[in-house]
This record gives sequence, structure tokens and C-alpha cells, in this order.
Amino acid sequence: MIVGIAAIEAIVLIKGGITNKAKLSEDKKLIPVGKSDSYEKNHVYPFLNHHFYLKRFEDGGFLALSIKCTHLGCVINYNNTTGGFNCPCHASQFSPNGEVVASPASRPLDYYPITVKNGELYVDTSVVKRRKSFLKSQLTYV
Ligand code: FES
Repeated sequence: MIVGIAAIEAIVLIKGGITNKAKLSEDKKLIPVGKSDSYEKNHVYPFLNHHFYLKRFEDGGFLALSIKCTHLGCVINYNNTTGGFNCPCHASQFSPNGEVVASPASRPLDYYPITVKNGELYVDTSVVKRRKSFLKSQLTYV
């Protein structure tokens, strides 16, 4: 009987541990990036450790673009001259809003949803949004 109780406790502990780990990793994917007014309009801010570029558009809207090229997944670079992004692997180019300017990539950069809580921006890297084109509805406003 003692062995049975110990086994049940072990199962509960293991399940609890797994659940807590899952919760922690979910929380880690909601990346706090601060207040909107700390970002200049028409600028791009790299968050490479979290796999996105945060772009603030001229109208104040925010877009969190994935750093993964949609061709074969290489990490794209910000292009200071065009305001867009270049892929070093096979030369795909993307516009400032992530649309394809030069192939072989065939679809725009993916993006992550942004939520606003108490004036702070959070990028949810657990949800990758695919798209066929850039739409203003993809921007987040504070
Ligand atoms: S992985 Fe970017 S162009 Fe091929």
C-alpha cells in the first residue's frame, strides 16, 4: 500500500513538474518590450535573442517581424539603406513591412502578435502568423 501511495505521489509530482515547465515556457514566449513611446516612428529595433525585429511605422503602428527568411529559414539582416531586410543565404529581399521584393522567398515574413497591457507592449513569440501580403490590420496600436 505504501508503494502504491508513493507511486501516486510520484505521478502527481511529475505531472505537476511538467505542467509548471510548460507554463514557464509559455510565459517566456510573451516578451515584454516596454512602452510604445520608447520607440521612434519609422525605425526598426532588433530583438534577435527573441527572433524578431520590432518595427514602428510612421503612423505609430507596431509590427513584430520574424527574423526567419520564408525561403529556407536563414536569419535575415536589417538593411539600413532600404529600411527592409536581406537574406544572406540566397539573396531574398523584403520590404520594410516584410513583403517580398526579390525571390527566391515567395511569401512575406511571418509576424508575431503584439498585445498591450497597462501601456506596455508584449510580443507573443508562441504564435507565428503567416500572411500572403501586408495589411494594416497586422499592425498594433497603443
Ligand atoms: S533562406 Fe533566405 S533566400 Fe534562401
